[in-house]
Amino acid sequence: MPFTPLRQRSSWRALTAHHRELASIHLRELFSTDANRGERLTVEAAGLYLDYSKNRITDETMRLLFNLANESGVPVRRDQMFKGVHINVSENRADLSFALRMPKDSSVILDGVDVVAQVHGVLDQMTKFSNSIRSGEWRGETGLPIKNIINIGIGGSDLGPVMAYEALRHYSRRDLTFRFVSNVDSTDLAEALRDLDPAETLFIVSSKTFSTLETLTNAQSAREWIVGSLGEESVAKHFVAVSTHEDRVREFGIESTNMFGFWDWVGGRYSMDSAIGLSTMVAIGPENFMEMLAGFHEMDEHFRTTPIERNLPVIMGMLAVWYRNFFEFPTAGVMPYDQYLKRLPAYLQQLTMESNGKHVTNEGDRVDYDTSAIYWGEPGTNGQHSFYQLIHQGTTIIPLDLICFANSLNPLGEHHDILSSNVFAQAQALAFGKTADEVHADGSLEDIVANRVMEGNRPTNVLLAEVLTPRILGALVALYEHSVFVQGTVWGIDSFDQWGVELGKILAAKITPELLSESEPTLDHDSSTSTLIRRYRTLKKNGEHYGN
Ligand code: F6P
Repeated sequence: MPFTPLRQRSSWRALTAHHRELASIHLRELFSTDANRGERLTVEAAGLYLDYSKNRITDETMRLLFNLANESGVPVRRDQMFKGVHINVSENRADLSFALRMPKDSSVILDGVDVVAQVHGVLDQMTKFSNSIRSGEWRGETGLPIKNIINIGIGGSDLGPVMAYEALRHYSRRDLTFRFVSNVDSTDLAEALRDLDPAETLFIVSSKTFSTLETLTNAQSAREWIVGSLGEESVAKHFVAVSTHEDRVREFGIESTNMFGFWDWVGGRYSMDSAIGLSTMVAIGPENFMEMLAGFHEMDEHFRTTPIERNLPVIMGMLAVWYRNFFEFPTAGVMPYDQYLKRLPAYLQQLTMESNGKHVTNEGDRVDYDTSAIYWGEPGTNGQHSFYQLIHQGTTIIPLDLICFANSLNPLGEHHDILSSNVFAQAQALAFGKTADEVHADGSLEDIVANRVMEGNRPTNVLLAEVLTPRILGALVALYEHSVFVQGTVWGIDSFDQWGVELGKILAAKITPELLSESEPTLDHDSSTSTLIRRYRTLKKNGEHYGN
């Protein structure tokens, strides 16, 4: 689709001029001159209520941002995605993640095949498997039921499963143990297996490509652990795989009957609701898993059908563009005020940064504007006693998403209201701060008045839901997926590829044998890398007693 380059779009220019006017206006002023701003600048979808009133925006800002979304083709490209157009340009593929959560009686045809029927075929297979583990029907080599489930995967084949398991732990089977091994650092696998009995342990090897070195190395060592204890024949009862590559799975020694498939049209970081979520389904049960998919689908439908002015992912995506490109804020925080969501920031880091950390447009040109912000976060209130100081008084402004729930899944005295009061208080403090007059009025000592002034004018989104359920988790993840899509569309980049991760893999493959070699290798790297390798080899020799 031929677009005017981003900086030349009339809405971009209008936003640039508008930003100049708005940049010096304080949220205090925006609120004092607009009595019902806090009610008006809100939107609700799929059980998620967003208060975006504490952003540095006016109605005019939003109007211009929606113009930019339109001028950038957000609605057009959204419709193309839902029609299966190859929007993943650099890999010449459709992205049909939304089909993973469509109801059984719907259909999406890709190259003459109904992918929804395929999805439900795999969901049925996953259901059967999950039930057999949960009921104890599935037996290990010695006849014992499986008690420990270890997911081996990395990136999208790990972060989604871990995040969802932690998020939905309340709904999980407590008599089963779930662990997640991702790092090729042997400590990860060693610590995960330390106290487990192989006879009661089953591995789910999760890898879209089934060629990822970290995952295959871990899977091979896990195989040796099982075979060493239970014999070669035991593999079929202690390993299953999730992948798009049946041949590679078979080559590894896992039968096709123990494989759960998915497809090229699902990106790794968009795959927690595919068979990659097998560990999630075993943990929370098929019914809860289907509830999670229903939440994803509800948000998909909201995104697909709602005018952009009331469209939650469009609003969040365009606010992200506003801060990244006009205020030029380099980073954004996601702070879940729910302990169960402790891995959500890590999950969102891959979703946002692997998707939109790109410097080339779909036309192959170098961008002349910034793309993805750096995302990070920690659960509240822990972060408040650590890095929030910088968010309140540092020199870099960091827009935050604060995510909270009206009810706790573990009610205990006043804990939950204390927690929630902190969300509202942080958003207030960040927006309105504290003036020198207010500090004076508190009777502060004159020489520390300046230290105690809080400038405020720091933006937040507050996302509020009733309680954390599988359905809400699905809606929340779909919200961020679509927000990422909106940003990527404005920037004209491919949010579905990840070429930037390739070079490091190739270089590591060259260096590994140089570290393993018994004899001194000939090194032809840059002087820094060669010196590091030589020093590493010397230190490794000195530490031979560690058994490496
Ligand atoms: O190297 C990055 C990446 O390709 C991610 O995009 C992906 O989620 C991860 O590696 C794991 O890939 P796979 O599921 O194919 O093992």
